[in-house]
Amino acid sequence: MTNVIELHHPLAKHHLAILRSVQTTPTLFRNQVRLLSMLLAVRATEDLTLSTIEVQTPLAITRGGRLAQKIAIVPILRAGLGLVEPVLELLPSAEVWHLGMYRDETTAQPVEYYSKLPATDPAHVGFVLDPMLATGGSIRAAVSALKKWGVRDVRILSVIAAPEGIEAITSEHPDVTIYVGAIDQELNEHKFIVPGLGDAGDRIFNTSR
Ligand code: PRP
Repeated sequence: MTNVIELHHPLAKHHLAILRSVQTTPTLFRNQVRLLSMLLAVRATEDLTLSTIEVQTPLAITRGGRLAQKIAIVPILRAGLGLVEPVLELLPSAEVWHLGMYRDETTAQPVEYYSKLPATDPAHVGFVLDPMLATGGSIRAAVSALKKWGVRDVRILSVIAAPEGIEAITSEHPDVTIYVGAIDQELNEHKFIVPGLGDAGDRIFNTSR
């Protein structure tokens, strides 16, 4: 699968193991999401277009690069919020557009409750942020929304994914690249990723019950 890129970096494995642990507190969990988001963002931005600029250093004039494309970061509420700040640190000129979606607990289908994506003037590159890709329903809906806006280069950043969800997205959107921290074994009967890390939204916002 050439359009699925899984992180094999030792730092990703190290920080993911901490993220997965049931003993990890919400404070540490948020920090691990932040670190993994940065590793994902570095990988997912390797081929962004640069324009050349002149820079005056204290010693000389030299050439430098400046991001040339209009970039949008699109977190899926709630859990995607955990990825926004670290990605925005690396892409400070990006626009941020929120999509509100939750997964119905009985049907596992995404339910949209917030979307303010504009109708015109699309970004050149759109990054969909969601720490979890389970059935893929939420991210599929988000990708469709970005395409409807007119974004031609859509990339997904997800910390953990199930093979079923990856398959669902690549078959519906073969032009989209998925950057993922780890592809886990499977979904269980409740459509939770196994071994996974639990519910990322609940662990980020300390609402586990
Ligand atoms: C979780 C997760 C993804 C979605 C993944 O959100 O953050 O958005 O489910 O499942 P899918 O791939 O099967 O669609 P959840 O519904 O728990 O909402 P939350 O982010 O508000 O916690």
